Amino acid sequence: MSIQRQLFGTLTDGRKVYAYTLRNENGMTVKILNYGGVLAELRVPDRNGCMTDVIGGYDCLDSYVRGDGYQGALIGRWGNRIARGAFTLEGKAYSLFINNGVNHLHGGEYGFNTKLWDVTEIDGDEPSLVLHILSPDGDEGYPGNLDLTVTYQLTAQNGLSIRYVATTDQTTVLNLTNHTYFNLRGYASGSVHPLILWLDADTYLPTDDTLIPTGELRSVEGTPFDFRTPKTVGQDIGADDVDLKQAGGYDHCLNFRGGATQEPVKRGELYDPESGRVMELFTNQPCVQFYSGNFLTNKEFPFKGGYGQAPQTLLCLETQHMPDSVNHENFTNCVLKPGEVYDFFTEYRFSVK
Ligand code: BGC
Repeated sequence: MSIQRQLFGTLTDGRKVYAYTLRNENGMTVKILNYGGVLAELRVPDRNGCMTDVIGGYDCLDSYVRGDGYQGALIGRWGNRIARGAFTLEGKAYSLFINNGVNHLHGGEYGFNTKLWDVTEIDGDEPSLVLHILSPDGDEGYPGNLDLTVTYQLTAQNGLSIRYVATTDQTTVLNLTNHTYFNLRGYASGSVHPLILWLDADTYLPTDDTLIPTGELRSVEGTPFDFRTPKTVGQDIGADDVDLKQAGGYDHCLNFRGGATQEPVKRGELYDPESGRVMELFTNQPCVQFYSGNFLTNKEFPFKGGYGQAPQTLLCLETQHMPDSVNHENFTNCVLKPGEVYDFFTEYRFSVK
């Protein structure tokens, strides 16, 4: 219905960062930055029609540049971790920046969350913003010139969709996602434990104590990772379970039944009984990293309105390929070759009940 552009801040090298606010005819709005492709604000109605901002984020550019946590950002070239930043592809060894203990996380030192993206506005009943970057061969250690377009769209059905389309001129690996933190009661409303989650995932990836998958695909049956019947996020989060303990909560890849699909299908639903807000998750990606915001502790970077960070007050549902799949033959394929098109889609659709 409309797109409005406002100056959000200026980077130290003088480049301007803009915030684009997309609005649909129901009054739902999303604010997107060209810096990092960040989703900075998402206002959706509750069952009384009251609009609340349901995602984490900051008031100023400096917090997005210096803060941790990847609030709302596009993540690439690799969502989640690669063990010791090392992998071999077509017989050649690659080494990546180590930025998370002994591992590589979310694309390295200057991942896609730090890039200033080119933006094309497409207004209409279902406004969209088309973001584009060229990531050069060798960017953060990854091979191939990558041409990447991410399209955000606000639909008439209160969906926020994200489509990732990429090509390369050399064989490479790719695993893109978006790192938005949600709390359907409002980003500043407290614990996510009362939210009810359903996920169509029948296995998950146990990890070591550096959060690298061990290689096992374990059935969720009888574990705290079983969300096939909806349950509150808090129900089993404190269980005496080695995976939960070493991550400080949920921070695991759950694998959708049957894997990736051609067309997007419904794979998850988050519901807040108090406000009535529902968020359905549609995707053609094979997995979701369910992260319960365990590391939201950085007091230096409060959220919008000065609201302080606190663990497990926001959660992420990052659709993606399996973490570290570059190092596991039994994991989802993440190799992209010249002539192929990487084309993945995720939609977060909001309603009430
Ligand atoms: C990871 C967490 C990590 C966080 C960084 C999540 O996707 O799973 O382990 O700490 O991103 O904000």
